[in-house]
Amino acid sequence: MSDYYERSLKKQTALREREDFVILAIESSCDETAVSVLFGRDVKSNVISSQIEIHKRFGGVVPEIASRNHVLAIDNLIDEAVNGAGITLKDVDVIAVTYGAGLLGALLVGVSYAKALAYALDVPLMAIDHIKGHVFANFIENKDLKLPFLSLLASGGHTEIVEVNGYEDVRILGQTADDAAGEAFDKVARVLGLPYPGGPQIEACAKEGSPVIPMPTPFKGEKHLNFSYSGLKTAVINYVHNNEAKGVEINRSDVACSFQKAAVDQLVKNAIEAAKQTGYKSIALAGGVGANTCLRETLTREAKKHGVTVYLPSKKLCTDNAAMIGMACYFAVKEGVLPADLDLDADPNL
Ligand code: KG4
Ligand code: ZN
Repeated sequence: MSDYYERSLKKQTALREREDFVILAIESSCDETAVSVLFGRDVKSNVISSQIEIHKRFGGVVPEIASRNHVLAIDNLIDEAVNGAGITLKDVDVIAVTYGAGLLGALLVGVSYAKALAYALDVPLMAIDHIKGHVFANFIENKDLKLPFLSLLASGGHTEIVEVNGYEDVRILGQTADDAAGEAFDKVARVLGLPYPGGPQIEACAKEGSPVIPMPTPFKGEKHLNFSYSGLKTAVINYVHNNEAKGVEINRSDVACSFQKAAVDQLVKNAIEAAKQTGYKSIALAGGVGANTCLRETLTREAKKHGVTVYLPSKKLCTDNAAMIGMACYFAVKEGVLPADLDLDADPNL
């Protein structure tokens, strides 16, 4: 055990007794470089540098370009977040960093920076799971949310219903058998000729349309909590290609709207079913797809019918950010999750 780690363990143990320790959180798992400062559960600054415009011309995230742009952005973002919180680096008590899941090269930028900074400041380093970060984003604005609760998680790489008992105790009750919901949004957008990232584009396009095109319902009548998006995606691709072959012009808005409704219905149905099966009365929405208005409204409406309260992070806290990583770190420290040592590595498949 390194001398640094021995000191880090002692310092982190002392932090558990406090409510207001200063967290500096770093997120660089995909195409957003993000830094946030929290005083305990209070977010003091939350800055993001998005690379969407850079990757748009390639129709998706190019990993190598993402890593390079994280390197370019991270220094200034740290300054911005620290200044924005009205502190100096010397005030930081703990550093939180996303170490997975995500793109290896992108993750390594944040992880390397965080390790160097933790060592230089001689403070504990907490390795945070990106997906748990999305779930814990719900604590940022919802001061009355209490553990345990159910979370409906829908991002670019994950679609799950989870039971959240704490940072270390997150149990998967149902998950996708194939594609993630966000992935389906992105692929369908591409087929419709809409730019990256597909989710917000589908949502905007769907506003002008109606859900008139029949879409498949996976696992009809089955009681388990798993999802499937591959059939839905294929149905849209076939619809578009069949019409193209016949020379029939499709109504893009109707396709987007029909797809969105089917994608959302599946998420909501399983979330309500999970509440019924487990008896939980709170469902917290998490992940980038959680920014979708149709999903937010449908889930809220259906949950109300069953006496279930829905917690929604604001839209900008649904997509990738560092405040959620800081909040997950707060809970991890409080629960006594051990800090990472300086041999921490990124884990793309976490
Ligand atoms: O959570 P996130 O920002 O990154 C991951 O951890 O994957 O999620 C990104 C995903 C993308 O697939 C994106 O298209 C989708 O979330 N997304 C949306 C919306 N905003 C982002 N999907 C539907 N409607 C939206 N408004
Ligand atoms: Zn994410």
